[in-house]
Amino acid sequence: MRTETSTAPGPLAHQAIYAKRRAAIGRALKAAGGGIAVLPTAPELPRNRDSDFPYRHDSYFYYLTGFTEPGSWLVIDASGKGTTSTLFCRPKDVEREIWDGLRMGPKAAPAELGVDQAFSVDALDEKMPELLSNQNAVWFPFATHKGLETQVDGWLNKVRARVRLGAECPQSQHDLCKLLDEMRLIKDKHEIAILRRAGKISAGAHVRAMQASAALLHDAGKGALVKLREYHLEAELLHEFRRHGAQFPAYTSIVAAGANACILHYRAGDTELQAGQLCLIDAGCELDGYASDITRTFPANGKFTPAQRTLYDIVQAAQEAAIAVTRPGQRFTDPHDAATRVLIGGMLDTGLLDKAKHGSIDDVLESGAYRQFYMHRTGHWMGMDVHDCGDYTEPGSKPRPEKDALGQTVMKKPARILRPGMVLTIEPGIYVRPAKGVPKQFWNIGIRIEDDALVTATGCELLTRGVPVRADEIQALMRG
Ligand code: GLY
Ligand code: MN
Ligand code: MN
Repeated sequence: MRTETSTAPGPLAHQAIYAKRRAAIGRALKAAGGGIAVLPTAPELPRNRDSDFPYRHDSYFYYLTGFTEPGSWLVIDASGKGTTSTLFCRPKDVEREIWDGLRMGPKAAPAELGVDQAFSVDALDEKMPELLSNQNAVWFPFATHKGLETQVDGWLNKVRARVRLGAECPQSQHDLCKLLDEMRLIKDKHEIAILRRAGKISAGAHVRAMQASAALLHDAGKGALVKLREYHLEAELLHEFRRHGAQFPAYTSIVAAGANACILHYRAGDTELQAGQLCLIDAGCELDGYASDITRTFPANGKFTPAQRTLYDIVQAAQEAAIAVTRPGQRFTDPHDAATRVLIGGMLDTGLLDKAKHGSIDDVLESGAYRQFYMHRTGHWMGMDVHDCGDYTEPGSKPRPEKDALGQTVMKKPARILRPGMVLTIEPGIYVRPAKGVPKQFWNIGIRIEDDALVTATGCELLTRGVPVRADEIQALMRG
């Protein structure tokens, strides 16, 4: 049964969206001095022998084409009045298409994708020197595609060889990502619609995993012995992602039982879930090229112990404080600062940090002692990539002196000002490893709560609240 479906009926249906983005990058290129941009998609990656990793297109390339076939390149010429786009793609091949599926082919590409012209990728090395001739600058993504710099150098050398015949070689090279990152940072309507659906599917997957875990509670009542392991819950997540049309998990799912939650990049393993322990799940699907990123922490059998509940409520309050300052005009760092103050208050109140030794919230902020229990940032940009592109500092601003994590004064640009259309995660946590001076009742508890927020005109819209977040609501869901 499908209640959500993929929104990708093929690039043709959304041709105008991609054409608009190509026109916008064309304008950005002109504003930055003009030239020509070259953008390959991602390569296919072998897993072993005849088996490849599941293919995932390059996000920048997809953003400008909506095209998901490997072996493709986009060239945008912004030197003239308008913007001309050229696609290189795999040629039609009856034999290969029997094995690997249909190819669009260069003949169909202009009508399907709305590009101005298309050639076989086999002609790339022959055509590129022609396209690069008489351009003042060449733009391509720096340090993201292995061997691309060498390839561009090879094409430029061919242009230089023709200088005596009247050809001019581009005088400068620029990083295309600089321009595309700024565009991708502000999500358009089409992207927001997909992000909402991805968030909804992922929230449903978390609900499903909580319900599966609740079997521990229900079976305990009947005296049956249920063995539930992390990978069982991972299977529930994947099932829910896929049955709603999501193509992949947006990143490797974390399903961490008990103390495993204190390992930040833990993967779902085979640890058994135990009644009385927590389970932390950080998982989200990728739908039509867009990510979602949710973390929930719940009691494996549906009932928080008092110590777990105490820390859970602190993390939840920290998330609420961060959400309250996620609105236009605030800085990217404001949600982190708000969450961190609440977390520190909780650490001092519970004795995780000894008040007599560590002093006030401000003292702890200054000393950094909270990092024993909270060692990551409260969020990141999210979009096509789970950790999406986009400058975290305000463009055009001047560096100013600031204290770094070690208390040293460093020159830093001020953080990015939030604007409508930006999407970021809000994910505070507390992780308590056994240590001298730390109250034993909290040992091995790891809690993170994460939602995805779209900055709106007046505040933010949480895209992932289809799964409960308050402790009482989680307990109610699991009892049901
Ligand atoms: N799931 C990756 C992250 O939360 O950053
Ligand atoms: Mn995240
Ligand atoms: Mn996450």
